[in-house]
Amino acid sequence: MKIMIRCVAAATILLTSTVSSQEVPELLQQARCYACHAMDATLIGPPYRAIAALHNRRADVMVEVLAQKIVNGGGGNWGVVPMVPNDHVSIEEAREMARWILSIDGKGD
Ligand code: HEC
Repeated sequence: MKIMIRCVAAATILLTSTVSSQEVPELLQQARCYACHAMDATLIGPPYRAIAALHNRRADVMVEVLAQKIVNGGGGNWGVVPMVPNDHVSIEEAREMARWILSIDGKGD
């Protein structure tokens, strides 16, 4: 039951967008995500396209999981280096970023 409620919540979050998707690259720029992430190249963090390829089959749940990780930081999925917390980013902005990343075509490389 708990899991079901979580899924419904995640689906609602997925459908209610406050920032248009064209604005997200600008948000990523402002939030300095590009210091560690690029579309196709591995910098300190994994490429956005690889993140999409890993998670986009579970995009409904992953929007919220990735948003939390963007704000609070964390590791364990890509190697020994964890992501730093990005607490200058709001959870709403982080959800927009996660939604945008997950919508990238992960088959590019
Ligand atoms: C100081 C470097 C750094 C910055 C700045 C940074 N990241 Fe990361 N990011 C990382 C690293 C390292 C990982 C890999 C973490 C892991 O192994 O799970 C990561 C992972 C991720 C993931 C995938 C998480 C997963 O579990 O697969 C997403 C999504 C992400 N970053 C988005 C962002 C966004 C959006 C920003 C800007 C607000 C940002 N990152 C800023 C270093 C960074």
